[in-house]
Amino acid sequence: MKVTVVGAGAVGASCAEYIAIKNFASEVVLLDIKEGYAEGKAMDLMQTASLNGFDTKITGSTSDYSKTANSDICVITSGIPRKPGMTREELIGINAGIVKSVSSDLIKHSPDTIIIVVSNPMDTMTYLVHKTTNLPKNRIIGMGGALDSARFKYRLAEALGAPISDVDGMVIGGHSDKGMVPLTRLATRNSVPVTEFISDERLNQVKEDTKVGGATLTGLLGTSAWYAPGAAVSGLVQAIACDQKKIYPCSTLLEGEYGLNDLCIGVPVVLGRNGIEKIVDISLNDAEKAHMQESAEGVSKTNGLLEL
Ligand code: NAI
Repeated sequence: MKVTVVGAGAVGASCAEYIAIKNFASEVVLLDIKEGYAEGKAMDLMQTASLNGFDTKITGSTSDYSKTANSDICVITSGIPRKPGMTREELIGINAGIVKSVSSDLIKHSPDTIIIVVSNPMDTMTYLVHKTTNLPKNRIIGMGGALDSARFKYRLAEALGAPISDVDGMVIGGHSDKGMVPLTRLATRNSVPVTEFISDERLNQVKEDTKVGGATLTGLLGTSAWYAPGAAVSGLVQAIACDQKKIYPCSTLLEGEYGLNDLCIGVPVVLGRNGIEKIVDISLNDAEKAHMQESAEGVSKTNGLLEL
């Protein structure tokens, strides 16, 4: 199993590290436009192999896409992250050009690959890959919901005073502060609805804290987060590589599901060796449907800024 990660910055390197530590891939290739950067990160990570007990071979290159040839999965994290006070949508100008050229170069060398898009604004970047490549829709996956759901579970556990492993919950919708749809109605603690344990008011606070989870960290760190994003990407990569058939909310092209068309947005999907093997169309209540509709309008508005 060969995985390429483009962008050896905060998220790319963290994702490569988690993939290596989980020890399911034979090879990870890191690529970064900054001269020597990917080689350096790869060498540093390889020097953790004997300490962390993995056999994954990690190599780095500046711009030699031939090194990525025949990758089973390619992850795109190249681009700029937001600074405090910025929205993800403001990154579109620079990141669209980067994502378009990177995806085209990757596919030239790995025509059968599955692409995972991480660069922001992620739903729009995922749509851009659809519009500018001829990959089938099951092989283009946007990562956002897996991270947002992890942040939701963190906030739920905090509110419940429960261990995170006892808590389950999912965030669908667009990967933006306003667009996220945390499904509080379906969140559970050991199969019991969380509404049995906390007030609606507290649950609303959990929802709001989840939606600004990325912005909160950007304010604290001065740039966007990397550990949880890297771990979330590695989870998606592992689900595909190991054909786990796990359900993650991912951004995917909708063609009528959830009453939506011609956009990529986060919905639950089954991930296996063929990428997105099924879109899970869960029934939403009226309020959730309205929130999803509003979220889709936001994503479509950002998509409208693309020069296709
Ligand atoms: P970073 O600045 O640490 O790393 C980005 C790397 O991309 C840099 O090292 C840069 O040299 C490289 N790069 C730029 N253009 C390139 C090109 N054409 N080819 C190869 N490499 C290139 O940024 P960070 O924090 O790793 O974030 C990366 C992206 O991921 C940002 O757009 C950020 O907003 C997004 N992000 C998305 C998340 C999600 O849930 N979808 C979560 C966190 C970040």
